[in-house]
Amino acid sequence: MEEKPQVTWHQHNVSREEREALKTHQGCVVWFTGLSGSGKSTIANLVERQLLKRSVHTFLLDGDNVRHGLNAAPGMLEEHYGHDFARRFGLGFSAEDREENIRRIGSVAELFCQAGLVTLTAFVSPYRRDRDEVRLRLDKAGRQGDFVEVYVDTPLAVCENRDPKGLYKRARAGEIQHFTGIDDPYEPPLAPELTLDGAELTPLELSEQVLRFLENLGKI
Ligand code: ADX
Repeated sequence: MEEKPQVTWHQHNVSREEREALKTHQGCVVWFTGLSGSGKSTIANLVERQLLKRSVHTFLLDGDNVRHGLNAAPGMLEEHYGHDFARRFGLGFSAEDREENIRRIGSVAELFCQAGLVTLTAFVSPYRRDRDEVRLRLDKAGRQGDFVEVYVDTPLAVCENRDPKGLYKRARAGEIQHFTGIDDPYEPPLAPELTLDGAELTPLELSEQVLRFLENLGKI
């Protein structure tokens, strides 16, 4: 086992409460999870737009975008940083890489939450253990209730029928391996704070459900 690095946690001078008082609302993490094409990003974007209108300070972390930067694929890093670096730090879609994807996002979301932002995340985050780990960390580092898990419950058949990026088609054709829902598992949350029926209602209706839920929780 490697030695633990000798780093010490520093207490900041400005507290989370002071930052929140300035913003007049609390920080939290609204964690959308669901299959690719379930509507996570669309709903999260609509929620963020509505929050902006209400002068709520937000940030949206989205799987596809974060995988262009912080969690870029090895192939995206190679030219600039070289092969070994890209292999070591670049992320794909193996179970381990997804775990690291969610761990990094969880940490970033935790920081944004401490900054007092209503932080929205839209990642497939297919493994229960990885999501629960983020919840645990937030409960420990922040306040109980900081983590609001929103399960976008859209059946695979509906997602596959929508196939906005044509990825299900490619996965079925065997061109993409380990695709969530096809040849890789999706583990639905056992006790999410909120479940959205992604097949029956429109994204706008679902975004309103999220806003109402956050209002009732006293987050906004
Ligand atoms: S996660 O599983 O690690 O949480 P993330 O949300 O970052 O995934 O990225 C998912 C997006 O990457 C999907 O919406 C899809 O566009 C794309 N993608 C590419 N390959 C896969 C794959 N094997 N499984 C799921 N999504 C994939």
